[in-house]
Amino acid sequence: MQHRILICDDEDGMRRYLAKMLASWGYQPETFATPILLLHFLENNPEEGALLLLDVKMPVMDGIEVLRLVRKSRPELPVIMMTGHGTIESAVEAMKIGAYDYLAKPFPQEKLAAQLNHCIERGKLLEENASLKNELKKRSGIKKPVFISECFKQVYEMALRVAATDSSVLISGESGTGKELIASTLHDYSPRTDRRFLAINCAALSDTLLESQLFGHLKGAFTGALQNQKGFLEEADEGTLFLDEIGDLSLHLQAKLLRVLQEGELIPVGATRPKKVDVRFVAATNKDLEKEVMAGRFREDLFYRLNVIAIELPSLRQRPEDIEPLAHHFLDMISARMPHKVGGFSSEALKLMRSYHWPGNVRELQNVVERGAILALTDCITLAELPFTLGNKPETKELADQLETELPPMSLRKAERIQVIRALKHTDWNKSQSSILLGITRKTLDRKIKEYKLTLGTGELQ
Ligand SMILES: Nc1ncnc2c1ncn2[C@@H]1O[C@H](COP(=O)(O)OP(=O)(O)OP(=O)(O)O)[C@@H](O)[C@H]1O
Ligand SMILES: [Mg+2]
Repeated sequence: MQHRILICDDEDGMRRYLAKMLASWGYQPETFATPILLLHFLENNPEEGALLLLDVKMPVMDGIEVLRLVRKSRPELPVIMMTGHGTIESAVEAMKIGAYDYLAKPFPQEKLAAQLNHCIERGKLLEENASLKNELKKRSGIKKPVFISECFKQVYEMALRVAATDSSVLISGESGTGKELIASTLHDYSPRTDRRFLAINCAALSDTLLESQLFGHLKGAFTGALQNQKGFLEEADEGTLFLDEIGDLSLHLQAKLLRVLQEGELIPVGATRPKKVDVRFVAATNKDLEKEVMAGRFREDLFYRLNVIAIELPSLRQRPEDIEPLAHHFLDMISARMPHKVGGFSSEALKLMRSYHWPGNVRELQNVVERGAILALTDCITLAELPFTLGNKPETKELADQLETELPPMSLRKAERIQVIRALKHTDWNKSQSSILLGITRKTLDRKIKEYKLTLGTGELQ
């Protein structure tokens, strides 16, 4: 994994110099010319950054002030202060309030390299600690699926029965049916629950990256491998590894994975000696793996190893009786985070939801309910807040009306800007709610706000 190093310095030259050097060492630098930009980034990316290099002397807000704020929002983030002439006292003060170390400018490259290494190692320890705490918290609040249907009950009971074993499980089902939820149930109710449950999406990474993420690598195994790195298989030792979208695994990695399943050992990239691991495998797919085997895209031997127990999740349209309890469950969840209370659904809205075909299954239902709750004008979600109409037809009539009455044709960019502003205005600048309305992630929304230079007043000018 490339470590992301945050650099905050008002001097252009210094930022460029550090960024270039860090990138050449295989780190991923992220530069900020002002404390405000840095704080904004930290607020919106609460898990990003392995380390912060912070200049002491900056106009408007000095580094010490920034450090105080960073300490509050990100107590675990290691910070190295960079001081110029005459600011050594400030550096000492910075150490008192929790900076990890300081570097007096100009500093030799080797010194920076050594400090980075130290600091990141320390950060990792803290992070591991935090994730242990997280797991403890997670165990006290295990996420239980909501259902009343007989077919989901059978699936759930099956999961609980096989949770205690070490057998591999292959979960299949359409997108959004709850595959990951069942995978975590298998872990939560197993003797491995004290150890880690790790999930990796085999479709999201390139083959080489996935290989090093799964198997780990030795320092120098390839360009950019600056230190030994454990892979997920080793990190999940004595725990559970969830291999999502297993159908997308290349034949090369299928062969390597088979070895782990058969022998219980792996060879990190660049290593020669195998390491023993004890991992429980849960895999998921929305492809028909048997067909993939017949087409020669998936190894038959691996398929049988993974498919010791098969769990097939029913789609939401196969269990319409679950729609209402799930909708109420998601509404309760979103209501807790909303200023105005939305307590239920109109009977027409419920009827429509029951007859809809839900191609995106439970995830789609969750999105529809969240969106509805934000748009609702009264204390209940009505037909007007649902994004589809009866018969599953797209909103042809409504769309036609809107096309007639609303804005004139314009560039996509301009239209996007207007929609972002509308969502922000509608939610009083609540970014999580706006991102739900726009159907994008919070991160993407932040990017768009920056890109279109939107501020609280922007909507008024439109
Ligand atoms: N029975 C259920 N009760 C409560 N929440 C559920 C249930 N089923 C699914 N969910 C929720 O719906 C969302 C989608 O579920 P999940 O991620 O497990 O689906 P998936 O099958 O892995 O989807 P994908 O194929 O898109 O990866 C999650 O937020 C999950 O918590
Ligand atoms: Mg999933």
